[in-house]
Amino acid sequence: MKAISATKATTAKVAGARGIRATCAGRRSVSARAVPLPDLPYDYGALEPYISGDIMKLHHQMHHGTYVKNFNGLLEKQADMENKGDYAGLISIQQAIKFNGGGHVNHSIFWNNMCAKSDYVEPSGALGKKIEETFGGLEALQTKMSAMSAGVQGSGWGWLAYDPAKDSIFVTTTANQDPLVTKGDFVPLLGVDVWEHAYYLQYKNKRPDYLANFFEVVNWKDVEARFAAATA
Ligand SMILES: [Fe+2]
Repeated sequence: MKAISATKATTAKVAGARGIRATCAGRRSVSARAVPLPDLPYDYGALEPYISGDIMKLHHQMHHGTYVKNFNGLLEKQADMENKGDYAGLISIQQAIKFNGGGHVNHSIFWNNMCAKSDYVEPSGALGKKIEETFGGLEALQTKMSAMSAGVQGSGWGWLAYDPAKDSIFVTTTANQDPLVTKGDFVPLLGVDVWEHAYYLQYKNKRPDYLANFFEVVNWKDVEARFAAATA
């Protein structure tokens, strides 16, 4: 089955998920705005043979779809609690918001970080130079990011990130669906999902094999665009 048109899903959609309106009495009331499940920018089978169409379809529709559904329910609940002044309730759902909202934010970056092999080009320009200066080249970066991502205990994400304070790039990981922002004021450039749902159907328990194939379909043009926006 084919995913529809290209979209550039960004965290901006998440940031705009709440609306505030004034009531007749002049009191402000908060309303939740539903977050849509973004379409993939390619067909489900576009990343084959590196990542199977079955994985992509299940991953997008069922896994990302569930994070979006749960996140929307929580945003509604949050708005309702805020309007009622139920602050203890608000606090009690923050972990669930981090998990499901993080799942939406992370996957939205991940889909656009990949492309068909026919569209693959190695990083160049400012990002290519930064990778060379920081890691000594693309292969060294991939080796480091693969090793760190393979080492994530349980489920999580591997990241190539930008640190605006130091004007530097670095590799790190996050657990579960924690978005990169939980580690500091960093910008995610490239994310790789190392939950088993991202690879088990095709690679079984061989996470390093999945990671090696992931790097065959990285959309470095998208990573470059994210780097350019972060450094502008
Ligand atoms: Fe996932």
